[in-house]
Amino acid sequence: MRGPQYSSVAIVLHWAIAILILGQIAGGLYMHNLPNASVIKFDLYQLHKSFGLSILILSLVRFGWRLAHRPPAMPDSMAVWEKLAARTVHWGFYALIILTPLAGWAMVSVSPLDIPTKYFGFLPVPHLPLGQGEAAEDLFAEAHEYLAFAILFLLAIHVGAALKHHFWDNDHVFRAMAPARIGHWAGIAGIIGAMLMGAVIYGITPPINADHPARRSVSVVGENENGNWSVDYDASSLKFIGEEKGRRFEGGFSEFNAKILFYPDNLEASSIAVTVSTGSAETGDEIRDSTVPGNEWFDTKDHPTATFVSNSIRSTGSGEYEADGVLTIKEYEKPITLVFLLEFDENAVKATGGADLIRTDYGLGADDSWLDDEAVSLKVRVAFEIHATRAGD
Ligand code: HEM
Repeated sequence: MRGPQYSSVAIVLHWAIAILILGQIAGGLYMHNLPNASVIKFDLYQLHKSFGLSILILSLVRFGWRLAHRPPAMPDSMAVWEKLAARTVHWGFYALIILTPLAGWAMVSVSPLDIPTKYFGFLPVPHLPLGQGEAAEDLFAEAHEYLAFAILFLLAIHVGAALKHHFWDNDHVFRAMAPARIGHWAGIAGIIGAMLMGAVIYGITPPINADHPARRSVSVVGENENGNWSVDYDASSLKFIGEEKGRRFEGGFSEFNAKILFYPDNLEASSIAVTVSTGSAETGDEIRDSTVPGNEWFDTKDHPTATFVSNSIRSTGSGEYEADGVLTIKEYEKPITLVFLLEFDENAVKATGGADLIRTDYGLGADDSWLDDEAVSLKVRVAFEIHATRAGD
């Protein structure tokens, strides 16, 4: 028995959106958890935004189609509560598949980072007309995440009910939406294929926004035989030096990762990206060290890494250089300049240098009791000694 069917348009949109949303949630979680220094993070964010906006357009079309077309009637065998539950889940889905991408778009629009969006690399997408600010960005980021998880929650109920109808009740409910005809599959494949094609074109076209700091910072850090340096971590150190109650203290990070592309003759193409594991900080004092991972200091649970990403490097003569870049500790991103000396010895290099920073700019010692310069100095020096050898030569 074939029973009533949804229209071809409804079936194609249903399955195309379903597949795209599953990919979008998996991709969203994956990219969110990548370290900032990752070479692919920026591109994945751009793809996520392009696929997400496509889902938004398809969902709006689908919603419009649904308003204009009655779906097949539910079987008489269904109890009133079952029909009510089904309708609630279905309208809930419509709300979520429209609100989730809208929240993502709003988050990007209000972000003070002001990163532009280009639909699959070619069509500039304007920001939504909302005021920028960190608080608004956090709010929409939370909303985006919770809405995406709500989709998963409804999905579990929806799939469970569809299976029950098919195998237990043996009615037409699942078959009404099943993409049985080859034409349906062609339509679904067409929509998803067009978007994958967009992703491929995005991947092979030259970088967009090449002058945007966020773009520049991640895209230049790549594998290159001549300028790529590999760090000898055993011989290298990354320290922070300050004063506590007038007495000097020194701490270090035992875990950090540095990606260095350095061409002495082509500083434009050179870059430094450092990721530090904040949980690896040690100062040699047990009491002090027990407070460092807490949320007043590095908040290692929510912010396991801190990063420095350069956006320009210049020579100041006699082997001395300055690297302008962005230091991110917790949710604070600030421009900073590292000053360092390079000493070359054939294919090895030693870099010594550092920068001074004001810890409260990064929310370090966030509690009122630490705001006083007497307890722990506001100025902290970050000092490094990096030993590296030229890779691939
Ligand atoms: C139905 C469509 C969408 C779904 C299901 C979806 C899902 C997700 C998920 C699961 C995450 C990871 C959340 C987290 O761990 O914090 C995420 C992150 C993100 N999404 Fe979406 N997304 C969609 C559309 C969009 C759109 C249209 C945009 C922007 C135009 C967008 C921008 C972002 C950004 C910027 C992040 C990263 C947030 C962060 O790293 O803190 N998303 N998305």
